[in-house]
Amino acid sequence: MSVLQLTGVSKTRGSGRHAVTALTDVTLSVEAGEFVLLEGPSGSGKTTVLAIAAGLLTADRGQVVLAGVPLASLGHAALRRCRGERVGFVFQRANLLGGLSARDNVLLAALLCGSSRDEAEERSDELLDALGVASLGSRRPMQLSGGEQQRVAVARALVHRPAIVLADEPTAHLDKDSGRIVAERLRALAGARGSAVLVATHDARLEAYADRTIRLEYGKVM
Ligand SMILES: Nc1ncnc2c1ncn2[C@@H]1O[C@H](COP(=O)(O)OP(=O)(O)OP(=O)(O)O)[C@@H](O)[C@H]1O
Ligand SMILES: [Mg+2]
Repeated sequence: MSVLQLTGVSKTRGSGRHAVTALTDVTLSVEAGEFVLLEGPSGSGKTTVLAIAAGLLTADRGQVVLAGVPLASLGHAALRRCRGERVGFVFQRANLLGGLSARDNVLLAALLCGSSRDEAEERSDELLDALGVASLGSRRPMQLSGGEQQRVAVARALVHRPAIVLADEPTAHLDKDSGRIVAERLRALAGARGSAVLVATHDARLEAYADRTIRLEYGKVM
């Protein structure tokens, strides 16, 4: 079963003379249990694909079906709920909530999906520990390095066991060991519960963990 299906998706970004055709007729799918890489040069449209897949951007043309639900059929509130429950998103820049501690950033994602407090704390602490940032849990994102923020963002994306993780360069700021731990965690999620993982990356180290690679060039699937 496809967890994510994009069919004939096109997208222009910017407007007027700054308008750029970011995606042209992109069709791709990610099946349950799969770990798929999205590769391509800078500016080829990787972030745009992930944002459209999560319903953060709306396609100009084409269809997006996430966990069986056509996103175009949802209103704003339903779309936000669907994203919160089914998607774990790791932004290219970690995008943690600056007013909350690292741990609370992760906890909140679990609580918003209806986990009990105990369950949310247990899972958050387990993930922060696995990702090597447990001792930094009380710090604000501003007080963390780029790589530390990225690992907290990965924990936040995984904590509610989403149907799909969409991760934008999740290992870009990570050293070898942290990068491996993130890759293993993503791989494990894809292996369990029919979840799927789609990772935009330039990091060749991830290829060893992935089932296949989708290549983008100039906004088209090669
Ligand atoms: N907010 C925006 N306004 C105008 N153009 C944009 C905007 N965001 C992205 N673009 C353009 O859309 C195209 C695709 O950008 P996108 O961010 O999806 O690329 P990418 O493959 O993720 O690149 P990178 O590897 O550098 O992160 C690029 O030509 C980019 O300049
Ligand atoms: Mg990008």
